[in-house]
Amino acid sequence: MMSIVNTNDVTVIEEQYQLATYKKMPVVAERGEGVWIYTNEGERYLDLYGGHAVAGTGHCHPHVVKAIRDQTEKILFYSNLVYSDIRARAAEKLISIAPQPLTKAFFCNSGTEANENAMRMARMATGRENIITFSGGFHGRTADAISATFLGKYREIGKPNVPGHLEAEFGDIESVRALADDSVAAIMLEPIQSMAGVKMAEPSFYRELRELCDERGVVLIYDEVQTGVGRTGEWFFAGSDAGDGVVPDIISLAKALGSGVPVGACLVTEKIASHIKENDLGTTFGGGMMAMAAVVGTLEAIEDDGMLANVREVESYLRERLREVEQVVSVQGRGFLLGLEFADKAKPVHEALLERKVITGTSSDANVLRLLPPLCLQKSEVDLFVDALAQSVSHAG
Ligand SMILES: Cc1ncc(COP(=O)(O)O)c(C=O)c1O
Repeated sequence: MMSIVNTNDVTVIEEQYQLATYKKMPVVAERGEGVWIYTNEGERYLDLYGGHAVAGTGHCHPHVVKAIRDQTEKILFYSNLVYSDIRARAAEKLISIAPQPLTKAFFCNSGTEANENAMRMARMATGRENIITFSGGFHGRTADAISATFLGKYREIGKPNVPGHLEAEFGDIESVRALADDSVAAIMLEPIQSMAGVKMAEPSFYRELRELCDERGVVLIYDEVQTGVGRTGEWFFAGSDAGDGVVPDIISLAKALGSGVPVGACLVTEKIASHIKENDLGTTFGGGMMAMAAVVGTLEAIEDDGMLANVREVESYLRERLREVEQVVSVQGRGFLLGLEFADKAKPVHEALLERKVITGTSSDANVLRLLPPLCLQKSEVDLFVDALAQSVSHAG
């Protein structure tokens, strides 16, 4: 029998009792405020990663906390078998910020579940089975979503994969054209491939995808699990100039949507919705009141604080300041989904930053460091980051 650890050291206890997931940083997060994480030893870390891009409104935004707290005093949960004031408000708010013609929301619990349902809806709407996704894209870890993921080891982890997944080259419309026959229900993409190292295509690529889908009766799905809810400095990548104004038939969302309360969603057109009947889709927790309160609080906080404009302004400032760090050879992405490319490996820089109490992310491109900070990041905090980065690159090399 395993021995029971007798210690107050939470790192030892977690290692003993929790299955391995990610490689953890030596940080015990006790409290969060805005872009800062405070440890149990009273140290603070500048958080430019947001716990996998979740802390969009920052940690413990007072408006989000209040929305959740107020809801706890009413009802914690009931499923979609009943109507709910807070669910009605969440759906209405989400659709009010969605680009036209997305008019209906489906709520679930995570990004992978949103993508599973997006693919299922596309199959229901077209009566076809195959899904085209892209090399470098990441869509989640449940069976269908991991089979749609053509990035590194992930598809392997999901063996045996679900049939009906085809791989095209991101940014190469001819590779998509060659696959998009009448067996194809949907083309799904991360409009900015985050895990792959923050890769974007030319605006014309998104336009050509839209035209191809219209021509061949294929559903276009944007996985905006990372790019959605304000991260690019606009509510969604869909409809933005970076994507030539293209709006897909379905957007999937999660991560920042609930500021840390698990929630996912699909936003769909009236046309897609017309193919979905009662009992086709479902999930126990989707649309639960706690999650809906978090969605309403999150969207209101972003709006009330003018966070979209903040993202755009602080992004420009950050890009400007990064010019001072000559080891950064390019800055990819948009808004607060940025990839800093180095001539050499990014991991030592990531580690040196952590020693200086700055949390960043790596990616599957070994030379790219990822920044996914809260949308409330200020210029003064950018200054702290750039100073720490300048010291880190000189020590990391
Ligand atoms: C683009 C994208 N899609 C889907 C997912 C899966 O989301 P979740 O972990 O909430 O299932 C992720 C998670 O990192 C993601 O980045």
